[in-house]
Amino acid sequence: MIITIDGPAGSGKSTAARKLAARLELPYLDTGAMYRAIAYAVMTSNTDVEDEAALLRVAEDVELQLDCGPTFTRVRVDGHDVSEAIRSMDVSAVTPYVARCQAIRDLLVNRQRQLGQQLGSFVTEGRDQGSVVFPGADKRFVLDAGLEARAQRRHQELTADAEEVTIEQVRENLQARDDVDSKQWEPLLTSGTVEVIDTTNMSIHNVIDHLVAAVSKTSAK
Ligand code: DC
Repeated sequence: MIITIDGPAGSGKSTAARKLAARLELPYLDTGAMYRAIAYAVMTSNTDVEDEAALLRVAEDVELQLDCGPTFTRVRVDGHDVSEAIRSMDVSAVTPYVARCQAIRDLLVNRQRQLGQQLGSFVTEGRDQGSVVFPGADKRFVLDAGLEARAQRRHQELTADAEEVTIEQVRENLQARDDVDSKQWEPLLTSGTVEVIDTTNMSIHNVIDHLVAAVSKTSAK
């Protein structure tokens, strides 16, 4: 079974995807971690983020390893575990430059399909998983939420990790990423066979219960 979860940053989709994968005992593929890992390599190599050819060179040269467990995707860049480091605001600020480079997207989409083939059954999360990468998935979800709710969630997460950041900075970062990201998942909204969930006023428990119920209905068919 393949389940895709797409949507904007802060919509709760990462937590939801992880918890859903754990409940269903399936591997969890965090595709955002792949874009973040390239951004990390771009940052640490001091590559000019405006230079698309240079960004692609970094993406092609880097050795990216992914280990998809049921509650996490561990990521290694050139042998170093960067699973934590890729969550920083600095990496988040570089990631949209990586994500809007079509040649890098093509590279990572291929990689995701290869991983998908190896895994067989899995929960995958990103922006284009249901639209581009696995359009034939058994169940496709979009999780959305208002900007303010998303900014507050993200701010809480970052400050819990001792990152010094204001809510305004988080809001600006989300808005900048929305401009790039929405192109990937917005087509799903009108596709008809995708379930869209607005999580603005939902607890994570409600979201998970909803996802589990929807998946059970699909597998019972
Ligand atoms: O989900 P996230 O915040 O970890 O994603 C990091 C960035 O990567 C974000 O700017 C969106 C982008 N991304 C993407 O373009 N396509 C994906 N499948 C996953 C993430």
